[in-house]
Order: sequence, then C-alpha cells, then structure tokens
Amino acid sequence: MNPSIKTASLALGAIILSGCVAVLAALAQPAANTAPSYTEAGRLVFPSAYRKWVFLSSGHDMSYLPAPVRRMSTFGNVFVSPQSHDAFLQSGTWPDKTVLVLEVRRAEQEGSINRNGHFQSEVVRHEVHLKDVARFSASGGWAFFAFATEAPADMIPRTANCYSCHEANAAVDTTFVQFYPTLLPIARAKNTLSAPYLAAESRN
Ligand code: HEC
Repeated sequence: MNPSIKTASLALGAIILSGCVAVLAALAQPAANTAPSYTEAGRLVFPSAYRKWVFLSSGHDMSYLPAPVRRMSTFGNVFVSPQSHDAFLQSGTWPDKTVLVLEVRRAEQEGSINRNGHFQSEVVRHEVHLKDVARFSASGGWAFFAFATEAPADMIPRTANCYSCHEANAAVDTTFVQFYPTLLPIARAKNTLSAPYLAAESRN
C-alpha cells in the first residue's frame, strides 16, 4: 500500500475507534439518580436537576375558584424525571420514587418586542409532589413539599388542601394528568384514569 494512504487510513481508523470509545463511555454512565433524597431530619433535598427532566406542560394563571382572584400573574411549568416518564409511557401510571416539580414563574407582558400575550420571567417558588411508598404510606404513598428557596423543605402536613384537592380531582394516581396533554391519551389507553376523574368526565 502507498505509505501516505496507509497513514491516512490508520488515522481514520484511530478517529473511528476514539468515536466508538466516547459513545460507549456515554452509554456506560449510570443514569442520574432522580429518586427523592432526604436530610437526616427528614426534609426533602431540593431536586435541583429538574430542568434537565421531561417537561409535561405549562398552566397560565390556573385557579380553582369560580371567580378570578387578583394576584400575581404566573405560569406553572411541570417536570418529571425521565425514568418515571418512561415508566408512565409503558404503564399509564407512576412508579415508586416518582418526583414531579411544579416551577412557578412570574408572567410578564410588554417586555422587549412583546406587545400581546405573556412570557415567563423569574421563579416565584417550586412545589413538589412525590411518590415514596414506604415513607409516606399514611398518605397513600404520596407527599407534597413547597420550596420558597432551594433549602431542604418539610413535608406539607397531610391535613393541607393539597392532598384533598389532588385526591378528589386528579386523573391518575393523585396527579393532574388531565392537564398534561401528551400523557392523558396514554392513561386512557391503559385504563389508569381515576374513578373520580371518570365520574366527573361522564357528568360533563
Ligand atoms: C383546588 C385544587 C388544588 C389544590 C388545593 C392544590 N393543587 Fe396542586 N395542582 C392542581 C392542578 C389543577 C394541577 C395541574 C395544573 C397546574 O397547575 O399546572 C396541580 C398540579 C400540581 C403539581 C404538579 C404535579 C401533579 O401532581 O400533577 C404539584 C407539584 C402541585 N400541584 C403541588 C401542590 C401543592 C404543594 C399544593 C398545596 C400547597 C397543591 N398542589 C394544592 C390543583 C390543586
């Protein structure tokens, strides 16, 4: 073989090999641990990687009272870990250790070139709804947390209206899948919609 062709093909081989090694190294990395983690005092550690998770939907100024409430205008962005999202696609419901994050951001208008509609700006707070069956068996395996900062947060007491509203109205396993448009058809196909949701749907 012509020596320059030989050198070129050796170099090409080395490039392909190093590319394969990089791909294999990426595949071999363990999936990021997205299970809930707690301090010794039992507070939930803020799930700070949630912005790399799967985005489910945004609600704008959603309120659950008949009359509009005058308060700060916000968006609520909902995220779930990729592992739990994969499991939902298979089963239509959430596995143990699922963490859902509701990121509440201020809604703005008339900034930059925007003249109509709303866009999002800074975070107002985070709320977390998670499933940890062994730890929260007294509340059906689920618990709520609210974060004003990223410091660890205590579980919201079982008597709070978070639990009663989610249990009475949410479409799948106390989560509001009726507002997550990519998940609702899956829950319907897998027959995992809750009895209260199906009853409300048949009344409409
Ligand atoms: C009157 C009903 C109601 C109450 C009370 C309520 N929520 Fe929700 N929640 C909703 C609805 C509707 C959604 C879905 C739409 C949205 O806001 O994005 C939701 C979504 C969520 C989500 C996203 C994950 C999921 O479960 O679907 C979290 C996290 C959450 N709420 C936390 C809380 C916390 C914490 C409280 C109590 C401080 C609370 N909620 C009280 C109705 C309620």
